[in-house]
Amino acid sequence: MACRFYLFFSLSLLLFAPSNSQSNQFCEAGIGYGEVGCGISSSTKLLIKGGTVVNAHHQEVADVYVEDGIIVAVKPNLKVSDGVKVIDATGKFVMPGGIDPHTHLAMEFMGTETIDDFFSGQAAALAGGTTMHIDFVIPVNGSLIAGLETYEEKAKKSCMDYGFHMAITKFDDIVSRDMEIIVKEKGINSFKFFLAYKGSLMVNDELLLEGLKRCKSLGALAMVHAENGDAVFEGQKRMIELGITGPEGHALSRPPVLEGEATARAIRLAGFVNTPLYVVHVMSIDAMEEIAKARKSGSNPSAISHFLKASQNLSLGTLNRVVKCISIARFSLRHIGQRVVGEPVVSGLVLDDSGLWDSDFATASKYVMSPPIRASGHDKALQGALSNGVLQLVGTDHCVFNSTQKAFGIDDFRKIPNGVNGIEERMHLVWNTMVESGQISITDYVRVTSTEWYALTVTLRYARIFNIYPRKGAIIAGSDADIIILNPNSSFEINARSHHSRTDTNVYEGRRGKGKVEVTIAGGHVVWENNELKVVPGSGKYIEMPPFNYLFSGIDKADASYLSSLNAPVKRSKSTT
Ligand code: URP
Ligand code: ZN
Ligand code: ZN
Repeated sequence: MACRFYLFFSLSLLLFAPSNSQSNQFCEAGIGYGEVGCGISSSTKLLIKGGTVVNAHHQEVADVYVEDGIIVAVKPNLKVSDGVKVIDATGKFVMPGGIDPHTHLAMEFMGTETIDDFFSGQAAALAGGTTMHIDFVIPVNGSLIAGLETYEEKAKKSCMDYGFHMAITKFDDIVSRDMEIIVKEKGINSFKFFLAYKGSLMVNDELLLEGLKRCKSLGALAMVHAENGDAVFEGQKRMIELGITGPEGHALSRPPVLEGEATARAIRLAGFVNTPLYVVHVMSIDAMEEIAKARKSGSNPSAISHFLKASQNLSLGTLNRVVKCISIARFSLRHIGQRVVGEPVVSGLVLDDSGLWDSDFATASKYVMSPPIRASGHDKALQGALSNGVLQLVGTDHCVFNSTQKAFGIDDFRKIPNGVNGIEERMHLVWNTMVESGQISITDYVRVTSTEWYALTVTLRYARIFNIYPRKGAIIAGSDADIIILNPNSSFEINARSHHSRTDTNVYEGRRGKGKVEVTIAGGHVVWENNELKVVPGSGKYIEMPPFNYLFSGIDKADASYLSSLNAPVKRSKSTT
């Protein structure tokens, strides 16, 4: 993979020409997009001087020295030889590049394809300070392997590092076998189950249960899109019968209760199987509260029943001490009760549903995504949940269609392709909404935008073998040089004219705020500086992710305890009469 990176790097030097300073122009060799000539920085030695280096666990004023794509040293007052590019970061924050755990680039969906592919979407990401994303592979006619091959092809034009999740849309012996291949040979450690999109991606409870069991046996993280698809179908019929055919019908047909129901159901089924669960795009208070309850309650049935049985033989004093120890351990691990991870997305954190009622169809339809953007109040509650640890990491669900594609649903909201932008805007909006407002610290910002995903991918058992963390999500010697420099005193403004996505609208149009990503460094190369992108297709690397993250530790023991607590089957003598 590293060889491929440098091959494209060399090609980029041939392509290099003085670049134009307009912010929305960038190089896309060979695909007729972004006309100006460009290249990525030639310097493989960089010194970032005098900034505040922020990791998820710590921050300090230090210099960062990078060589050949790797961070070599992080120390104050580093001295380097001539020929090293020096970037002054005094008064700025030097942080790990963002990781977006939820994107859909070049995805075929609702009769069309998302307009950002693995080049344009990633270029937009880099301009906004995200240096890696994890995209969802959609099976082809249920086949995981065929789906993966299609995405491997799509991803050949990548200009930044990426990984994959895999969706499961049917279940049989072949899918079960292929899930093993996907985990053990292809570097994917998560599978997504859609509980909505009836008639296309949706799975029923029987399939979900099979999937959860298989995920557990492979050490893969099960993810759910949690909305009750049957009830959504009913809600859509109701709206059409009422003559509500516009974008507001989208929100009205799938209210928060349907998200809450599906979230609760998925959590309970994951608890029943005793496997970790990741709930994607948590959009409502209803869903968030289910996650909060599960994480707090310890609704893991095997653990609870074992604890109750064991506690029968303990004195009250001992029992108190045990409970206290458990509470301290849970608190310090930030892992409470059932193993459920909740992912808010930027649209859910900062928008409300008022746009869906706009009288202009193009404006209203750009906000259509699922689960829907909710009424005012849900956004603030989700921000609170992110700041108090009920929700853990922020994605975007970047899934963009232009206004021509959105117009497929001009007479019927059910045909508006679902999805909004965010891959370029996430880092700025999370900073402005969460850090500028004082809701989270700067170290927490690094955790929720970058490091947490890596924590999720790392297992104590495999960390040293696979060597992923702190390869990513950290600024320490030995990590990949995926770095951003954010100026807290500079400001950003978002609009469709200057963004780097191919779509012609932006759901954050006109938003301004404090804190701007002034420099993005990906794989040791400066790819964004002075509002100018220098990226080359093919330079991104596929990042394999090992199974059995830390959420799996102890699951086998809990299962064994549960089995030994059953006192069954009861041996009974056969009656002779
Ligand atoms: O509206 C959305 N969220 N589109 C992308 C597909 C999905 O549900 O994640
Ligand atoms: Zn979804
Ligand atoms: Zn999605």
